[in-house]
Amino acid sequence: MMIIVIGSRREGNSWNLAQKIKEGLDKERISCSIITPGNQRIHLCTGCMDCDKNGVCDFTDDMKSNIDKIKNDDYLMFITPVRWNLLSGDLKIFIDRLNPLYSSKGLKGKKFIAVAIGAKGKEKYGTESAINSLTSFAENAGMEIILDKEFNHCLDGTDILCKEEEINNFIESIKSKVA
Ligand SMILES: Cc1cc2nc3c(=O)[nH]c(=O)nc-3n(C[C@H](O)[C@H](O)[C@H](O)COP(=O)(O)O)c2cc1C
Repeated sequence: MMIIVIGSRREGNSWNLAQKIKEGLDKERISCSIITPGNQRIHLCTGCMDCDKNGVCDFTDDMKSNIDKIKNDDYLMFITPVRWNLLSGDLKIFIDRLNPLYSSKGLKGKKFIAVAIGAKGKEKYGTESAINSLTSFAENAGMEIILDKEFNHCLDGTDILCKEEEINNFIESIKSKVA
């Protein structure tokens, strides 16, 4: 039902948060799977635009099974670490390679949750632009943004685990949005 795509390849804050969310949803028998594009074999988009014509990418790599999964799920969550004020490169590559699904209107109507995790607070170069990069993609693709969440002051990979109450509240809001 829910696919979480995480934009960091280390087992750090994004990974830890995804595990907590999965545990919380599993308890409610809401199925949830996690994709880490950085640990998969995914070619960079060449911009050939073939997928705009036929909805299929010329590369055969792990994006094929990712797209098949996303096609069949209603809820999509992206968790990005902030990298230089933006979303991570891994997640951007993933988004570019979603173009076959986007161009065949396969993302339209899906429910989207955006999460950004950064070392800074709510200041310049914090989480805001990273969240905006995720939500603008979702809007463009015709998805319905049901939640967005920023976690600040997370630098080391386990910093987020000190925010137990904030995480639990976030999981509760996810549960209330997922029928
Ligand atoms: C190359 C790089 C650039 C970063 N740029 C920012 C930034 O602009 N703003 C910020 O708040 N944190 C920045 N950070 C810190 C990460 O967002 C932070 O450590 C985050 O918790 C990492 O998530 P992860 O543990 O899931 O990898 C940067 C980290 C790296 C490696």
